[in-house]
Amino acid sequence: MNRENTPPSPVASARNLDDYWMPFTANRQFKARPRLVESAEGLYYRSVDGRQILDGCSGLWCCNAGHGRREISEAVARQIRELDYAPSFQMGHPLPFELAERLAAIAPPGLNKLFFTNSGSESADTALKIALAYQRAIGQGTRTRLIGRELGYHGVGFGGLSVGGMGGNRKAFSANLLPGVDHLPHTLDIARNAFSRGLPEFGVEKADELERLVALHGAENIAAVIVEPMSGSAGVVLPPLGYLQRLREITRKHGILLIFDEVITGFGRIGEAFAAQRWGVTPDILTSAKGLTNGAVPMGAVFVHQDIFEAFMQGPDGIELFHGYTYSGHPLACAAALAALDIYQGEGLFQRAIELEDYWCDALLGLRDLPHVVDIRCVGLVGAVQLAPDPAGAGLRGYRVFEQCFHDGAMLRCTGDTLALAPPLIIDRQEIDRLLEIFAGAVRKVA
Ligand SMILES: Cc1ncc(COP(=O)(O)O)c(C=O)c1O
Repeated sequence: MNRENTPPSPVASARNLDDYWMPFTANRQFKARPRLVESAEGLYYRSVDGRQILDGCSGLWCCNAGHGRREISEAVARQIRELDYAPSFQMGHPLPFELAERLAAIAPPGLNKLFFTNSGSESADTALKIALAYQRAIGQGTRTRLIGRELGYHGVGFGGLSVGGMGGNRKAFSANLLPGVDHLPHTLDIARNAFSRGLPEFGVEKADELERLVALHGAENIAAVIVEPMSGSAGVVLPPLGYLQRLREITRKHGILLIFDEVITGFGRIGEAFAAQRWGVTPDILTSAKGLTNGAVPMGAVFVHQDIFEAFMQGPDGIELFHGYTYSGHPLACAAALAALDIYQGEGLFQRAIELEDYWCDALLGLRDLPHVVDIRCVGLVGAVQLAPDPAGAGLRGYRVFEQCFHDGAMLRCTGDTLALAPPLIIDRQEIDRLLEIFAGAVRKVA
């Protein structure tokens, strides 16, 4: 190819960083010291200055099968030539039906009705709306209250934000969040559970707070409880042993729907397709996104129990749920999701986190003597190292380590002073060692 005629890569040539308002980003810090990647293959990104960066967080917890999967890009390319778009209101095309059937086959028992969205935020809002509309449909219209959990993250729509429990995300919108929302206490308990391997031992009683909220409001006023089985964004906060089972018992006893937000835990992160299966607790509704398409095309899916769906089908013959998105079941997203599922199943990736869990946890817990480490949490193929805050300010130490890692060739996530790791499920032991070596080196240098 005549390189002189090749147009320059738009990213490599991006000189002007001013006009893009970056999401969840310290824009001024970033633009002073940008971190730009321009391509990716397997476990590695390539930065615009040509360095290999080991992907320690599957992009943003979504590229579970690694990058540059040709099966996905070819499926999407074929699909855009065949059918670029079709409306999904009062119309259809075959792909979302096929995808729904494939997803129902890997879903926890009974969760075999699929509603498609474009993101995790939309999945959370969709699940909350289905829960509220379901309670009305079965004659329980007083059940309007929603219960989330402190440190929960359910995206940035007003619904998900309202039940979410990350203070920083909520503050600017405090007066405008949904009314009638309560929060369970979070389950992070470093004093009792520091350096646990897998699920922590202490804290099952925190689920009993739900009984307190039931006593306070009356079960007849509560529609649903939404939790992440494992909170990823807040820094890998795990459910104590027995906690999810207890939540399930209490919600069932009181006719309250239980929603699991599996946007991060879905598609193999914890082992099995969903955390619900790994931890043996089946919710009534389950939300997903991210790994659904391996991150290649935006898409979310809400798994709904068949009994809930059937309740909607009992009313007058007409539109049963006034909800949906222009791009629900988009052909390109469906093509990507079907190809991603083929990879996950063909390569046994839903079992991979279980196979690697012991090695992963040993390696992570081996970092406990690094400076400033106050806790390490690990399960499946996800983990977090929590550092003590720098006296100069919370989050400074975590950010320094994150920046240094990128400089030294590894990408991970920082939430305050917690560094989260969730590499693609195709990682092997050698690359785990490499990832943690870079991380440990960065902590020693700058923490
Ligand atoms: C558990 C959970 N729910 C919802 C979301 C929001 O997803 P999105 O950013 O695709 O809207 C996220 C994103 O990280 C998440 O982790």
